[in-house]
Amino acid sequence: MARITAGLATSHVPAIGAAIDNGKTDEPYWRKVLDGYQWTQAWIAREKPDVVIVVYNDHASAFDMNLIPTFAIGCAETFAPADEGWGPRPVPIVENNADLAWHIAQSCILDEFDMTMVSGITVDHGLTVPLSLMFGQPDAWPCKVVPLAVNVVTYPPPSGNRCWRLGEAIARAVASFPEDLNVQIWGTGGMSHQLQGARAGLINQPWDKAFLDDLTNDPERLRRMSHIEYLREAGSEGIELVMWLIMRGALGPDVRELHRHYHVPASNTAVGHIVLEKHP
Ligand code: DHB
Ligand code: FE
Repeated sequence: MARITAGLATSHVPAIGAAIDNGKTDEPYWRKVLDGYQWTQAWIAREKPDVVIVVYNDHASAFDMNLIPTFAIGCAETFAPADEGWGPRPVPIVENNADLAWHIAQSCILDEFDMTMVSGITVDHGLTVPLSLMFGQPDAWPCKVVPLAVNVVTYPPPSGNRCWRLGEAIARAVASFPEDLNVQIWGTGGMSHQLQGARAGLINQPWDKAFLDDLTNDPERLRRMSHIEYLREAGSEGIELVMWLIMRGALGPDVRELHRHYHVPASNTAVGHIVLEKHP
């Protein structure tokens, strides 16, 4: 049987991707950001997941005001990196486990959780930067990747509790897939940041640290957190953090925190990263 063994969360700042792609990782500014991922790179090389479900948001690369799915699962065989204005990132094409993706779609929908199935999309920094952070610069990504895109760009995004319950439904779906697979689930985006308007540049370190603490120990508080609290405390793009609750919901009530990294600044964003192991 397939099983979700671990989850992690990370910010997906596009400038980190540019630093990696352009050989700037040894600059002191980026070293401080990237050093916090070395533990995870070594850990994941040992864990060797067969599949990673990457919960991410598209930033108007594949979806725009013509079509805004709340939850979209990538069901094609492959996904190429998006051109976000400077050409596609020089990173490998994402290879999906399409059988698992279709199974998750079917299981969630029959579990009364309506998913949108998508094929012809490219994947932007929301998905490719986390892959670079965990796997560096390989010729091919070392595992299959199921993209799961969440709308957090246009109001209304899903509630944190809805995200949590989708995570639970995904865990049920994975557990009913007959192939023997080591599956991880990643939540991406966040932490506090605001890219626009009068409060552009907002960072809230105490709030972010409480979010990290409670992700491990008191996720019930996070499930109940309203959109307006994300907006007030974590800035307009801080709402990306609801995606972390899909990951956390999929791991079940008991987790062990294996690693944590928090660093300000990276571009406009407070970079947060946490690795959680599922408790049996
Ligand atoms: C930045 C962060 C993001 O999450 C994003 O999608 C775009 C830009 C930033 O910090 O610059
Ligand atoms: Fe983003």
